[in-house]
Amino acid sequence: MNKKEMCLIGYFIIFFVFCWSVYFAVFFTSSPTQNSTTLELVHVIMRHGDRNPDKVSIGLLSPYLDEKYYAEGYGQLHKAGIIRAHQVGSYLRSRYNNFLGPTWNIKHLEARTSDYNRTKMSLQLALAGLYPPVGSQMWSSIYWQPIPYNYVPKFEDKELLPYNTCPRFNELLNDIYEEPNNKKYLERYNETFSILENKTLRKMDPESAFYLYIGFQIQEQLGYPLEEWTKAVYPEPLHAEMIDFYHLITNTTEIRRIIAGYFLKKLLTDTKAKINGTIEPPERKMFFYSAHEVNIAAMLLTLNEAIFELPPYSAFIIFEVHKIEGVYGIKMFYQNYKQADPVLLKIKGCDYFCPFDELYRVVEKYLPEGDEECFGGARVS
Ligand SMILES: *[C@@H]1O[C@H](CO)[C@@H](O)[C@H](O)[C@H]1NC(C)=O
Ligand SMILES: *[C@@H]1O[C@H](CO)[C@@H](O)[C@H](O)[C@H]1NC(C)=O
Ligand SMILES: *[C@@H]1O[C@H](CO)[C@@H](O)[C@H](O)[C@H]1NC(C)=O
Ligand SMILES: *[C@@H]1O[C@H](CO)[C@@H](O)[C@H](O)[C@H]1NC(C)=O
Ligand SMILES: *[C@@H]1O[C@H](CO)[C@@H](O)[C@H](O)[C@H]1NC(C)=O
Repeated sequence: MNKKEMCLIGYFIIFFVFCWSVYFAVFFTSSPTQNSTTLELVHVIMRHGDRNPDKVSIGLLSPYLDEKYYAEGYGQLHKAGIIRAHQVGSYLRSRYNNFLGPTWNIKHLEARTSDYNRTKMSLQLALAGLYPPVGSQMWSSIYWQPIPYNYVPKFEDKELLPYNTCPRFNELLNDIYEEPNNKKYLERYNETFSILENKTLRKMDPESAFYLYIGFQIQEQLGYPLEEWTKAVYPEPLHAEMIDFYHLITNTTEIRRIIAGYFLKKLLTDTKAKINGTIEPPERKMFFYSAHEVNIAAMLLTLNEAIFELPPYSAFIIFEVHKIEGVYGIKMFYQNYKQADPVLLKIKGCDYFCPFDELYRVVEKYLPEGDEECFGGARVS
C-alpha cells in the first residue's frame, strides 16, 4: 500500500464516521421520540380528518347541494381524512414508543370521541396508527388490531360537545351577540350577511356564517368550483368573521366555563389524580380525545393567545404531564401542520412548563362547579 492509498482509506474512514454521526444525530437526538424520563402522563385532543360538508354548510341554491356529490354522505370522513387521521396515530407512536411500550393494554389508554361519525372514524384510524399489532398481538397478515373507544351521547357530552349539549351555551352566546359593543362591532358584517342571505337563502347570524365559511373551504378542497358571487365574501370578510366567532364563543368567563371549562376540569382532575397517586387504573399513560375544530380553538384561546386560522383537519394539542425536579407540571404542544413537529406553546399567565398548582390558579375561574352551568337552573339532579 502506498502513501496515496493509505490517504484514501483514511479519508474513507473519516467520511464513514462523519456519515454515521450525522445519522446518529438525526435519528437519535433531534427525532421527536420522547425518551424523557420526566414524562408521567399524556392527554391528546385532536380534530377529525378531512370531511364532506354538513348540509348546513351548503347554500340552498348551491349547485353542489345534492348529497350525490359526496360519495360518503354529508359530513362524513373521506379518503384524505382517513389518511390524515391515521398519521396522527403513527406520529404519536413514534413520539411515545418508549413511554407507551410496544403492546396495547386496556389500562394504558382511555380513548374517547364525540358522538359524531367523523370523529369516531378518525379515532379508530388514529388508534390503528398508534397500536399496530406487534409480536404476540399479531393475529393475521392485516397490520391492524381492534382498539376500544367510548363516547357519551351527543346531547349529554359536556366535555367534548358543550355547544350541542348545554342550553346555557346558546343563551349566553345570544347575550354576547346583543352586548352593545359586540353588536356595534358585528355591524361590519351587515353587507356580507345580506349577500349571503340573498345567495344561500339561509338566515344569517355569526354562527351560520361560520358554517358557510367551512362549507366554502370544503368545496374548494373537494375541487368543486366556487360560484362567481362568492368572491365578494370569501375568503374575506368571511375568514375574519370565522375568527370573530371563536372570540364570541369565548367572550366571557361565564361562557368559557362551558365551552372550555368542562373539558379543562376533566384534564385537571385526571392530572391531579395522577399526581396524588389515586389515578384509576394506576397504569394509565394516555387520554386520547377525538373532537372538533371548536374544541381545539377553545383550548388555544383559553390557555394560549389569539387564534388566526381554523384549526386544520387532524390538528391536535398534546398536554404532557412532566415531573421535573420534583415538580409536576404541564407542557402544551400544538400541531397545525405548519411545521413537522408539534410546537411547544407558552401557557397564558404561566410558562412553557407550567407547574400544576400555577396552572390550577390560572384556569380556576374557568372551571364549572357542576351541571347547572350547562343545563341551567331548571334541570334538577
Ligand atoms: C352518522 O351515521 C348515521 C348512520 O349510521 C346517520 O344516521 C347519522 O346522521 C350520522 N351522524 C353524523 C353526525 O354524521
Ligand atoms: C346593520 O344592521 C342592523 C340591523 O339590521 C342595523 O340596525 C344597523 O344600522 C346596520 N348597520 C350598518 C352599519 O349598516
Ligand atoms: C338580492 O337579490 C335580489 C334579486 O336577485 C337583488 O335584486 C338584490 O339586489 C340582492 N341584494 C343583495 C344585497 O345582494
Ligand atoms: C368579544 O368579541 C368581539 C368580537 O369578535 C371581540 O372584538 C372582542 O375582543 C371579544 N372580547 C373578548 C374578551 O374575547
Ligand atoms: C387526588 O385527586 C383526586 C382528583 O382531583 C381527588 O378527588 C382526591 O381527593 C385527591 N386525593 C388526595 C389524597 O389528595
